[in-house]
Amino acid sequence: MATRLLHCGRNRGTPLLRVNVIGWRRQLATISPSSVRSPKKPLSHELEAAARPDRTGVTTLPASWYRSDNFKLSQLEKRAIFARSWFFTTVTSEFKKKGDYRVFDFAGLSMFLVKGHDGEIRAFHNVCRHRAYPLRTQEAGCSGVISCGYHAWTFDLNGNLMKAPHFNDVDKKANGLYPVHLHITPGGLIFVNLEASETPSVSFEEYFPGLETLLDGFDLKRYELYKAREFIGDFNWKTRIDGFQECYHCHVAHKSLSKSFDIKNYAVRNHPNYTQHIALASPSSAKDAYGNSDALFLYLYPSGAINCFKNGWQRSFSSPIDSGRTRISMEYYVDPDLSEQEKADFVQSFYQVFEEDCALCTNTQRSLDAGVYAKGVLHPVHESGVIVQAYQSRTKELVLKHAALEESLGRELNPASRADQNSFAQSPEDSLCARLEQREW
Ligand code: FES
Ligand SMILES: [Fe+2]
Repeated sequence: MATRLLHCGRNRGTPLLRVNVIGWRRQLATISPSSVRSPKKPLSHELEAAARPDRTGVTTLPASWYRSDNFKLSQLEKRAIFARSWFFTTVTSEFKKKGDYRVFDFAGLSMFLVKGHDGEIRAFHNVCRHRAYPLRTQEAGCSGVISCGYHAWTFDLNGNLMKAPHFNDVDKKANGLYPVHLHITPGGLIFVNLEASETPSVSFEEYFPGLETLLDGFDLKRYELYKAREFIGDFNWKTRIDGFQECYHCHVAHKSLSKSFDIKNYAVRNHPNYTQHIALASPSSAKDAYGNSDALFLYLYPSGAINCFKNGWQRSFSSPIDSGRTRISMEYYVDPDLSEQEKADFVQSFYQVFEEDCALCTNTQRSLDAGVYAKGVLHPVHESGVIVQAYQSRTKELVLKHAALEESLGRELNPASRADQNSFAQSPEDSLCARLEQREW
């Protein structure tokens, strides 16, 4: 796999999830925008529609929800949001051979996709059923079996335990890998859900209504994975998404991007759990690294993005490590017909925007942590993506509901936990941990 993982130092730049577009004014060679936007509907009408009176005077989430020392809220968000969301991973064309696998991390929950001997792609938690060692320690590879690096328990590509050395009476049926819910769109985009229940509490179609139809207008499989990058930012994950969900700052912070795209007419279209960002190509005829195309920046709740251009596309995911740190993983897919220089230029141009955004996030987080700022008012049009059900109000709703549920149960509830399926779960040892948490002395 032609992937290179670059570990960037802290304080060096983050995201740019800002530009997501859809070209409706022209047909792109490889990204078909017509299914995304109606050409009869001018952008200005969309902006007006977004500026509903009920959004005037809407404020941000309180600063306390972002603070680096608010560790418990961060843990609650992981249980309330990340443990039950649908996440985009990659495209089926990345799995060429039987045994090909890719590893992903969602808020500390590691999972992998693998192509079986029958050609089917399956998803499993990246944890050995013996003593919890991660089964896949490389981000990608190919292997005909799944062998644990601790005591060599070996699983087949369907997740069945095949061999446990010197442990003949182990119950193989009861110790297969934990499966992960999978949804593959007709266009080959692979989504996963880490909830432990047999069926996810919210189906893919309910979670992302209309998204599959929208995505089918894009042929992402023709692009090749070119580079992967990871960045750890010193900011809360929401600090990053706040910036991604609006381009109000673009003319200030993204000078080069503003040359390639018509930022004045940048618009967003909000849906439940996802947002389309619309950036039309700049009328300038100067050649740019994106392919002089319109762009689609697709935000996927809670912290994923698919950013599409003519020359390539990027997947991005912002994983909370804790309340003040976020791991951002990015994979860049490029048009295989581009020259090596054009591929590198595409990645570098988009990464520059990411670094500009990271600087904004890092500095904003410092102010949020300082404790003076309480909350701010959001622009009803230019920051509608921050306000809406796709993001901040959704976050507030999920966190408050889950907190109330846990309070009624008198314990933490992690929807991704397999404890309920484990015969040694809910033991006195487990409840001791919960009691210790509640002690105030
Ligand atoms: S932890 Fe995997 S074999 Fe022991
Ligand atoms: Fe930005």
